[in-house]
Amino acid sequence: MSENHAANPVPTPVPTPVPTPAPNPTAPEPRAERAVPAPRDRAEPMFPGGPLADPAGSHHERRIRSFRPRRGRVTPGQGEALRRLWGQWGLDIDGLSRIDLGELFGDPDLPVVLEIGFGMGEATAQMAAADPDTGILAADVHTPGQGNLLALAERNNLSNIRVANGDAIILLREMLEPASLAGLRVYFPDPWPKKRHHKRRLIQPEFIALAATRLRPGALLHCATDWEPYAEQMLEVLTADPHFENTQPDGGYSPRPDFRPLTKFEGQGLEKGHVVHDLIFRRRDT
Ligand SMILES: C[S@@+](CC[C@H](N)C(=O)[O-])C[C@H]1O[C@@H](n2cnc3c(N)ncnc32)[C@H](O)[C@@H]1O
Repeated sequence: MSENHAANPVPTPVPTPVPTPAPNPTAPEPRAERAVPAPRDRAEPMFPGGPLADPAGSHHERRIRSFRPRRGRVTPGQGEALRRLWGQWGLDIDGLSRIDLGELFGDPDLPVVLEIGFGMGEATAQMAAADPDTGILAADVHTPGQGNLLALAERNNLSNIRVANGDAIILLREMLEPASLAGLRVYFPDPWPKKRHHKRRLIQPEFIALAATRLRPGALLHCATDWEPYAEQMLEVLTADPHFENTQPDGGYSPRPDFRPLTKFEGQGLEKGHVVHDLIFRRRDT
């Protein structure tokens, strides 16, 4: 048996050599490995076709956030508005591309202001209705508020509102062109009262320096707060930035302007006896 095997071995197939292609002198140089952003953790939208849960994902993760993740309870009406209107008027802040504001609003000549932190959006809708010749790009992470504002915009025929979902700092830094904004509104930003949380306050020198690059000369930067220590910080930070000048000749707080409606958080602050401060600064020409 063993002899048989030795006499008639099973032939092993000899692999046919594969010819190596001759180098093509006209072929482009192989590209160096490009830095690819880390895989992003884009959770599925809660509402099909609606805002993404974390549009900028993990490649922007190592940042101090000025907001708490607040998805909150979405009413059926808000959910329906998100599903139906997000594709038309919504924008996920993914930090991946630049936005042409003229294209976004369908009018290259429309001045556009950015509102950061619109909450439930009632004041935003009122301001958009009062000034149809200005576009409002309204940014927040708050899903119920996004649905509410979309529903308000549709109900009141407000074609000058676009709703941005995600961190407005990423929107400013990665997605808006230099000198593209006609104004910036920050009404009642989270006050982060504990000392260890002060670094999460939005109005800081770095943020104001970034805002200065995105605002065109003459644009107004309007902040309001009912938290006295934060008002003081805002005044100090804004006064120190050479790109801005206070619209108040005495260098102090502004009287509340007629065009700013009462906001939800403002109402809550007033009920607690807080004093509200407005700050209106103008972007200088240089
Ligand atoms: C205290 S609420 C005020 C809401 C509204 N302006 C009002 O006065 O009723 C602050 C809002 O800012 C939002 N916010 C804070 N930081 C933000 C950021 N970096 N990008 C987008 N929204 C932000 C929060 O999600 C929250 O809805």
